Amino acid sequence: MQRLNKKRILIGITGGIAAYKAAELVRHLRKLNAEVHVVMTRAACQFITPLTMQALSGNPVHTDLLDPKAEAGMSHIELAHWADVILVAPATANFMALIANGHGNDLLTTLCLATSAPLCLAPAMNQGMWNDSATRHNRQIIEDRGVHQFGPAEGLQACGETGLGRMLEPMELIEHLSEIFKHEILTGYRVIITAGPTFEAIDPVRYIANHSSGKMGFALAEAAVDAGANVTLISGPVNRETPVRVTRIDVTSARDMYRAVHDSISECDIFISTAAVADYRPSSEATSKIKKDPNVADDNLQLTLIRNPDIVASVAALKQKPFVVGFAAETGNVISYATDKLHRKKLDLIIANDVSDSSIGFNSDENAVTIIGPDFENTLTRTSKYQIARQLLDILTQRFLDRQTRKPQHTRALCTN
Ligand code: PMT
Repeated sequence: MQRLNKKRILIGITGGIAAYKAAELVRHLRKLNAEVHVVMTRAACQFITPLTMQALSGNPVHTDLLDPKAEAGMSHIELAHWADVILVAPATANFMALIANGHGNDLLTTLCLATSAPLCLAPAMNQGMWNDSATRHNRQIIEDRGVHQFGPAEGLQACGETGLGRMLEPMELIEHLSEIFKHEILTGYRVIITAGPTFEAIDPVRYIANHSSGKMGFALAEAAVDAGANVTLISGPVNRETPVRVTRIDVTSARDMYRAVHDSISECDIFISTAAVADYRPSSEATSKIKKDPNVADDNLQLTLIRNPDIVASVAALKQKPFVVGFAAETGNVISYATDKLHRKKLDLIIANDVSDSSIGFNSDENAVTIIGPDFENTLTRTSKYQIARQLLDILTQRFLDRQTRKPQHTRALCTN
């Protein structure tokens, strides 16, 4: 259940009697420290009020696709990108038919079409409807598209009939939801991730820094733990909570980060350099605060900068090197500059991040990136940083494992968690 900590869960409610169970579901999710937004269809509002769901989720409830006020707050597309997972509970037979046929005629169906997050349905309907050939056909289509179906359970139904069609209980749904975040592709592997900015001291009170918030690196650490890895996160100065089961080492400057990385690297299988490391630092740190001299007319102050060690390139140059993944934050010619860094730093993969768009990249909650390898390019469309992290890990793990198979002499000892 810890896996649901801080996860962004969008609960969709459609018009069935089991809608009342959604209240309990949301209450439990909040207890598990998940962030919850609720979307209700018009029919769902006949069974349970948006006010109840607002109070339980702690967020405004979304009901209308064409509500200008709601769209100004968080548009339906933003909501689709926001979610780490969508669970529709209850999902009626009608809703399943809409999903199977790709309809987008209200807010909830539109979100399901627009999202790249996993979509889960908790069917709830009369047993005859569940067994009807049309529903069975729709279920098959939905399953083939990779949509998860939790339940239904068998038993006495609200209509008095007995059979398959009861929605699973809230705690059962939560167990299934938690499994969605379980990945296990990296079980037994050790991953080191750098995150955040570095601070390069000018004097005891001033420093050179950048806008990195650490969100992307922390999301990668969280996704890597969810994938079963043993994760060390080496972070520059950021005010972020450490993801559960992650070992965190805090550093300040690029040189601190370099030392921390090389102190930990010997048993590392995958190294991901997300940190925005300062390329240069002041050549010397003044021992006391640099003062303005009121008697000097010259308004200029000269700082001499010298180059910092390149951490990711130094790891890629190790004889016993892990699988090395860099990031490239660029504001123009994104792909060609990133490709150049891939080759120059001798990396296995590089993730190109266009930071000229302030809604992705530095300090944003979402990202969109292109993964570049020596022989391929793969673009991940905009979604939450956690979802980007999961997709990145899927791709880079595949490459890492391929390399292990092709070059068995490089196989590294697996560390035990
Ligand atoms: O932290 P967030 O606010 O979530 O923002 C995420 C991010 C934009 C910081 C992240 O997605 C990103 O793009 N990180 C790389 C930023 C960067 O500094 O890129 P770069 O092009 O300057 O460096 C290329 C690679 O070399 C990076 O992997 C960097 O970690 C590494 N590097 C750079 C300089 C240096 N001295 N040592 C390094 O290891």
